[in-house]
Amino acid sequence: ANITFIEANGQSTTLNLADGWSLMQGATANGVDGIVGECGGSCACATCHCYVDELLAGVLPAPSQGELDMLENVVAERRPNSRLACQIKASPALEGGVVHLPECQE
Ligand code: FES
Repeated sequence: ANITFIEANGQSTTLNLADGWSLMQGATANGVDGIVGECGGSCACATCHCYVDELLAGVLPAPSQGELDMLENVVAERRPNSRLACQIKASPALEGGVVHLPECQE
């Protein structure tokens, strides 16, 4: 699915991610600086914090308890649409989705 990442400085990158790839994997593999992904995707670092748009919010499964717990640790402001990019897996339903990245991750 094509997902657009918009960094805090306004830089926008659209990536076509294979099904099953997490948004964190896609961003870090393609040089999107606003996502760090320090723990490698095991929901243990909160450096893959992102803000999802309404399209994604409407189709994504609700965050797991582990993701909710880790969202307590994000460095940037937590918002109602805060999610961890490593817990979002690309699928056709996410086509055209946009995530905004916070100013800082750590
Ligand atoms: Fe560590 Fe997502 S990469 S919580």
